[in-house]
Amino acid sequence: MIRIDFEKCVGCMSCVGVCPFSVLGDGGRFPEWTDLSSKRCIECMHCGAACPERAIDFLHGPGIRREGIDPLPKNFPQLIEAFLLQRRSYRSFSPNKVPRDTIEKALEIAAYAPSAKNQKPTKWVLIDDACMLEKMMEIIVAYVEKEGVSPEILENLDRGRNVVMGTATTIILGYAKGLAINPVVDTALEINALEMILQSFGIGTCWAGYLTRMANANPEIREMLHLADEEKVYGALMVGYPQGEDYLHIPNRKRAPEFTWI
Ligand SMILES: Cc1cc2nc3c(=O)[nH]c(=O)nc-3n(C[C@H](O)[C@H](O)[C@H](O)COP(=O)(O)O)c2cc1C
Repeated sequence: MIRIDFEKCVGCMSCVGVCPFSVLGDGGRFPEWTDLSSKRCIECMHCGAACPERAIDFLHGPGIRREGIDPLPKNFPQLIEAFLLQRRSYRSFSPNKVPRDTIEKALEIAAYAPSAKNQKPTKWVLIDDACMLEKMMEIIVAYVEKEGVSPEILENLDRGRNVVMGTATTIILGYAKGLAINPVVDTALEINALEMILQSFGIGTCWAGYLTRMANANPEIREMLHLADEEKVYGALMVGYPQGEDYLHIPNRKRAPEFTWI
């Protein structure tokens, strides 16, 4: 899984101290593998990230990025609070498409979200073809009419409001194999990160819960998304440049956090 360049290693054992599953141990002069089968290694690369000599890499390539760590500004806590409070769900978007490379950049950053045992099970389907989105919506409407589920979808459509995908120009769906340790949480965390990143770029987003449910339930949509039998959509986002939706104030949440210290 990992390789250590013993020419560079100074034996400081920083890697041993941070290895979450004790795959590396203190071998005296150098770190050593405690588990030669490497089965416990989750490839988190904490060892490489902590190594002052950059002596650790993946077997298959570089373990750490070439650029250094940017120090965060002193007012970062205030910035992050302001950002989290100002994030909103946007459902009305301009017809201008978000460039694909912007979405891909956001996905690259979102991949830094944590995941159970670093499995990173989530994969993505990205749709920015207006005809395809229209077709999906037609299938969903037909499904809702036939099955009688979520009638509010039709009621809102009658009033000119699409609660399934708004007027999104791009739809992002996160899917994974059900056999992963925790695909529900892993995908939600990655989508949450993606939403933050896209909104930091000035792009509007909204979680698309109806679409997630319909995508799993409807065989026609599953086929459109090329989902295999064992794969499930765990979350989706409506994406686009906000238009006609300006939030001047920060809403209060309907409930304050409820907690018990034990
Ligand atoms: C898992 C999840 C599913 C959601 N599904 C939808 C949806 O299908 N359609 C929609 O219009 N909003 C959806 N939302 C957005 C919520 O309605 C919104 O987050 C909530 O009203 C709070 O508003 P805010 O995000 O602007 O603070 C969803 C949010 C989450 C977290």
